[in-house]
Amino acid sequence: MIGNVWLVVISISYYLTCVFCNVHPIEIKHKHFFDSVTGKPFFIKGVDYQPGGSSAVNEFSDPLSDASKCARDVYLFQQLGINTIRVYSVNPSLNHDKCMTMLAAAGIYLVLDVNSPLPNQHLNRYEPWTSYNNEYMKHVFGVLTAFSSYNNTLAYFAGNEIINDQLSAKVSPVYLKAVVRDMKDYIGKYSPRKIPVGYSAADDLTYRISLAKYMECYEHSPNEAVDFYGVNTYQWCGEQTFQSSGYNTLVDDYSDYTKPIFFSEYGCNEVQPRLFKEVTSIYSSQMSGVFSGGLVYEFAQEPNNYGLVDFDSEGNAHLLRDFHTFKERITKAVDPPIPKKALLENQGKSGIGGFNRGTRNKKGPKMCSSQYTNLDISNGTPRSLGIDMIAAGVRVQKGKFVTLTSSEMTSKYKIFDADGKLLADRPRIRAQQRSNNLGNEAWKNGKYPRPKKTKAF
Ligand SMILES: *[C@@H]1O[C@H](CO)[C@@H](O)[C@H](O)[C@H]1NC(C)=O
Repeated sequence: MIGNVWLVVISISYYLTCVFCNVHPIEIKHKHFFDSVTGKPFFIKGVDYQPGGSSAVNEFSDPLSDASKCARDVYLFQQLGINTIRVYSVNPSLNHDKCMTMLAAAGIYLVLDVNSPLPNQHLNRYEPWTSYNNEYMKHVFGVLTAFSSYNNTLAYFAGNEIINDQLSAKVSPVYLKAVVRDMKDYIGKYSPRKIPVGYSAADDLTYRISLAKYMECYEHSPNEAVDFYGVNTYQWCGEQTFQSSGYNTLVDDYSDYTKPIFFSEYGCNEVQPRLFKEVTSIYSSQMSGVFSGGLVYEFAQEPNNYGLVDFDSEGNAHLLRDFHTFKERITKAVDPPIPKKALLENQGKSGIGGFNRGTRNKKGPKMCSSQYTNLDISNGTPRSLGIDMIAAGVRVQKGKFVTLTSSEMTSKYKIFDADGKLLADRPRIRAQQRSNNLGNEAWKNGKYPRPKKTKAF
């Protein structure tokens, strides 16, 4: 018995490196993301992470609450060579410290939606006045409290595809703006840094330009303006080019946008297998002046068949063909240049959205116009229901990085290739030396060396 106790002590103390020290906060300057420490432009290379589908959030679990599944998936994110994931729903009362620390150790950032499909945790797009209520605010502020202390929380989405038809475009825009404002007010008061807030839009031509412009402006308070904009686009299917896909029009349509934009979902699956050739365009100088990368929909296989990885009932991972194709494209994507002007603006000028009024920065938030095509904004932004909660704060545990043992960084699951070949048994996440030096040479060409097994005890 005593011998066993000693082995446990040894294996815990054996891994005490500061695995999360290398992840630098990302900040927005003008219309680009930058590493706040190195000043290097940051391009989002990521996947949408929704294991178990949209209903996987409940009282007991969410995608970032199960450390052993996170060890498996963060390991796979490292093999893909990505630097960001998007999670659609979390339960703020659960503990996310281990998963967030693993992500940070791997140099991976989180873009987080504050809503969930559960009652009182999202806006009802057709009757937003019934769902913009205190319970909802409490949920949203809870998510902000739980996640804003992690340095790898990159950004929040106030909503996803809320405006997607005539009725939602008539009643929801002003409520969406109210949520953005409340979130930014709360972050301004409680967050250690100004984590940006944006909206993820369905790329419907009816609202493409007008909604983006409306979300960019403000009526009463500059906090009503989004800090960035996400576009869900599935228009590049199979063999296309920058022109034939219509990406050129997307770039033109958003070329005068004053905030960063990225693809919050992409990856049409109408032509199988997917080729992911759009990756080359997204990270090219044709797009980099306007778009800051994107997130592929999606990591985990669901019935809609967009997955890169399938999981069996034991939790073992089976890499699909799309995993290898996307990995090959994204690891070859070199960060494209951003316009010189933007680099110069990064030197000296401060702040998300450039709120420093009175300077020569003409790109600060704009006042709203009275009309936006196909949107009804005539009722104006509703006054905040969250004022008291913003004054008092909500009682939710703040997240923090934790020290992880080597066995916690090791997945108990196996990784198989599409043909059933075992690629890795008990794979272990490797802490990155530099957060901006992603892409692991040893894993090129689809070769998956077996990681060292951790000592059994
Ligand atoms: C978060 O980032 C800031 C700024 O780079 C740094 O001072 C701080 O130590 C980091 N916190 C952690 C827990 O790594």
